[in-house]
Amino acid sequence: MKKITALVLTVVLLPLALTAGGSKEKTTLVMGTNAAFPPFEYIGGATGNEVVGFDVEIAKAIAAKAGKTLKIEDMEFDSLLTALQASKIDMAIAGMTITAKRKESVDFSDPYYEATQAVILKAENTAIRNLDDLKGKKISVQLGTTGNEISKKYTKDEAIVAFNTGFEAVMELKKNRVDCVIIDEQPAQNFVKKNPDLKVVKMNFDPEFYGIAVKKGNPALLSIINATLAELKSSGRYDALVTEYIK
Ligand code: ARG
Repeated sequence: MKKITALVLTVVLLPLALTAGGSKEKTTLVMGTNAAFPPFEYIGGATGNEVVGFDVEIAKAIAAKAGKTLKIEDMEFDSLLTALQASKIDMAIAGMTITAKRKESVDFSDPYYEATQAVILKAENTAIRNLDDLKGKKISVQLGTTGNEISKKYTKDEAIVAFNTGFEAVMELKKNRVDCVIIDEQPAQNFVKKNPDLKVVKMNFDPEFYGIAVKKGNPALLSIINATLAELKSSGRYDALVTEYIK
């Protein structure tokens, strides 16, 4: 009888005590991303339905340093900043360019990757060669991205089709419904590798720097993130990841 009481006490009351009393600290670290952006984040891996990629490796290192279990939430790119503000995710790692506008609503880590936009065209298209040629063209983009913003400089809103994923933007081009796609260079190269009917043209776009976004006012997490990035670079692990995933 005594034994049973002790067991009940342990099973029922101990978890209660833990939740009520002490360790409020979460054991998971939640990365929000949009996993249609290879090689930074995409669906693949051993089972074929895991979120994997360069950014995921960085996230794993951050979680390890924080002593937490990494959890990944795959969502629309355009929802990431809101999800951060609502504390639905702890950090957005999504090949996200650090911009002044985004900095108004979230904080960014140190930059971890230098990128630029590129243009995807049908392989036979020789009419679009430089930024001037983009004027007035029909352009598909991923909604809420820097590519989406940049397209507005060249063509009117009615001629821009914005999709939730870069993949869908590329499909629109394959179906000849737009003249080109403006998207970050690495995903552009990745999509084109699998589609011989397409090509990537580099143009004189400004450099962009990817950063990891966290909710404003979270210096503890931000410093773990920055320390992890610095360690990845100094240990050579960062370069190894670039070789494995990007180059
Ligand atoms: N670098 C671009 C931006 O910040 C595109 C990022 C898209 N990322 C993604 N995981 N879909 O707007």
